[in-house]
Amino acid sequence: MSDNALPTRRLGGLQVSALGFGAMVLSPGVYGEIDDARAERALLAAVDAGATLIDTSDGYGADGHNEWLIGQALRGRRDEVVIATKFGFRLPEGVEPHPFPVGYAFGELAVNADPKHVRGYAEASLRELGTDRIDLYYPHFPDPQVPLEDTVGAVAELIEAGLVRHLGLSNVAAAQLRAAHAVHPVAAVQTEWSMWRHVDEELLAAARELGVGVVAWSPLGAGFLTGKVDKVEDGDFRQHMPRFDAANHRANNDRFAPVRGIAGELGITPAQLALAWLLDQDEHVVPIPGSRTPAHIRENLAAAHVRLTPDVRDRLAAVLAETEVSGGTLL
Ligand SMILES: NC(=O)c1ccc[n+]([C@@H]2O[C@H](COP(=O)([O-])OP(=O)(O)OC[C@H]3O[C@@H](n4cnc5c(N)ncnc54)[C@H](OP(=O)(O)O)[C@@H]3O)[C@@H](O)[C@H]2O)c1
Repeated sequence: MSDNALPTRRLGGLQVSALGFGAMVLSPGVYGEIDDARAERALLAAVDAGATLIDTSDGYGADGHNEWLIGQALRGRRDEVVIATKFGFRLPEGVEPHPFPVGYAFGELAVNADPKHVRGYAEASLRELGTDRIDLYYPHFPDPQVPLEDTVGAVAELIEAGLVRHLGLSNVAAAQLRAAHAVHPVAAVQTEWSMWRHVDEELLAAARELGVGVVAWSPLGAGFLTGKVDKVEDGDFRQHMPRFDAANHRANNDRFAPVRGIAGELGITPAQLALAWLLDQDEHVVPIPGSRTPAHIRENLAAAHVRLTPDVRDRLAAVLAETEVSGGTLL
């Protein structure tokens, strides 16, 4: 067991460390170079440093790579963590992709969340993860061709059957959360939220009202908020993000200098301030930063112990209210 217990938070009926670990970065083809040995060391560093929520998806890496990697790395330590995974991107042959537009430069993604496929997705994820249960299971994106309530009904059946413990939703609006919650209680809603991406206020209000936890994805702004991204190499998916093209990136970096200045005054890193700021927004938010680097992982998780004073909270609110971001948003 980890000696480094972190403060905990509730996501509906689940209790997890206040900061989780986002595993997407551990598969090739996302944030550039990574091999399985390095990925495994990173994941174990996160667990050793107290992260008890591990976030993955059937869509991260090729052919279930990310889930497989987690299953391998956590052999013998499965019970120390809550495993959250998502479905709809890894489509077996013959399952038709349903495209939908996104703000990435490549224009669209595609899922299939038809209820008739959901049990098969869960069985594939369980096999890759080497486990008998998924603790938190999300449709990765609502399927534009399938009512979300139908997809959720299929997850409810998996919960009934004991393959899944809790239902999550990812990339939904408030009305979708309400509709889904009426079919089956939702433990957590996963949404992009960070200092450079405003939360959907209606979604946050609905989550608070319904007692649903909020998992903040890309809480470090895909690395931008650490202040350490110089340029984005080939093979790094941020090349598809307009916010990271050279001119926008330079402008955004300049605009966030005051935020980095506040971190310096507090004697913490910009990454830690970005995570502490999120934790301070709501008692049920759980950010899931990702990293391939044990030192970064320990730095990030230590932010669970940072408390912002009212003065710092107000100064950050004022600075962020004035800080524009160039390059649109992803979703
Ligand atoms: N539901 C969805 O649709 C969705 C979409 C995107 C992401 N997510 C989830 O959110 C998780 C996190 O998002 P993300 O990986 O996109 O972005 P992120 O956590 O905001 O940033 C990850 C990037 O930051 C760098 N980094 C992390 N800590 C650092 C530190 N202390 N100092 C310097 N650099 C640091 C990492 O590089 P190094 O490896 O070099 O540290 C990596 O390039 C994902 O793993 C995934 O689980 C969900």
